[in-house]
Amino acid sequence: MPLLEDIQQILAQGLAKLQDAAEADAMEAWRIKYLGTKGAVKAAMQRLKEVPRDRKRAAGQAANELKNALTEAFERRLAAISATGGGSKKARGPAIDVTLPGRRRRIGHTHIITQTINEICEIFARMGFAVATGPEVEDEHHNFGALNIPLSHPARDPLDNFYINPEVMLRSQTSTVQIRTMESTNPPVRIISPGRVYRPDTVDATHSFMFHQVEGLFVDEAVTMADLKTCLDQFCKTYFGRDVATCFRPSFFPFTEPSAEVDIEFHRPDSTRYWVELGGCGMVDPNVLETVGYDTEKYTGFAFGLGIERMIMRKHHIPDIRLLFESDTRFLHQF
Ligand code: DAH
Repeated sequence: MPLLEDIQQILAQGLAKLQDAAEADAMEAWRIKYLGTKGAVKAAMQRLKEVPRDRKRAAGQAANELKNALTEAFERRLAAISATGGGSKKARGPAIDVTLPGRRRRIGHTHIITQTINEICEIFARMGFAVATGPEVEDEHHNFGALNIPLSHPARDPLDNFYINPEVMLRSQTSTVQIRTMESTNPPVRIISPGRVYRPDTVDATHSFMFHQVEGLFVDEAVTMADLKTCLDQFCKTYFGRDVATCFRPSFFPFTEPSAEVDIEFHRPDSTRYWVELGGCGMVDPNVLETVGYDTEKYTGFAFGLGIERMIMRKHHIPDIRLLFESDTRFLHQF
């Protein structure tokens, strides 16, 4: 048989036989038969001597291609077999080890701010507070006017607020929800309102142009400052731990009279103490109750507004408020 035809046949036969070889032994036998030192490829190479000069080049090329094609096919087959179970007939099967533990998929969870809001709502729910909400885009009446904040008050400064137009703004405090709730509900009222507020502060470790507050409002007959103190003290002890002390410092807010700032006391590891301001509070100013049509002879109330990020940062020792807004999962996974 002429060499070129012979080569064609070796190739066809070799490839076909290779498909039948499934075990290590059969593969080795095939290798010896085709690629071994006394194998078919070698024999074809040796026959190159007989080929006349003018056809030597083409025949040499064909013999080389044969060798490469069979070597490649052999290696591919070997890899395929070892991937499906090492070549032994018994071990053949899909390239999946069903006994391996499953791959864990990381699922998300609620953000620490949301977790904290839920926790705050739960604590106040135990004291009888319902949750109320209000819009983040507010009119200046609910953000300022109805809260007894005079037109001349510096809190209204356009540079300290996000005004959309002279009457509409992003709310700068959750106290707006006090007004909205009292407008739509008759006393007694006992609500908290967590939510976002906006102020054009320059961002740094303790400031952001958007942050969260929780507002509280309790209006009923004979509500006193003692109720306010008990309520906030209980809240702080539940959220931060039994051993925190609270302090009510006299202060001023247009919508409360008298007003106070609430501080809580923390202990450093070296057992020195320091106070941190948590927010403002006070007895609802009768002007506010009158604006919403409540009978100020009959009803009194207390209100408070606390900064949520501040609480989170104290409780979890977070040094920079920006961490709470950056969505870095290395940070968020810790909560
Ligand atoms: N709205 C105040 C602020 O953003 C906080 C505040 C103070 C809320 C006293 C109150 C309050 O309800 O009674 O700074």
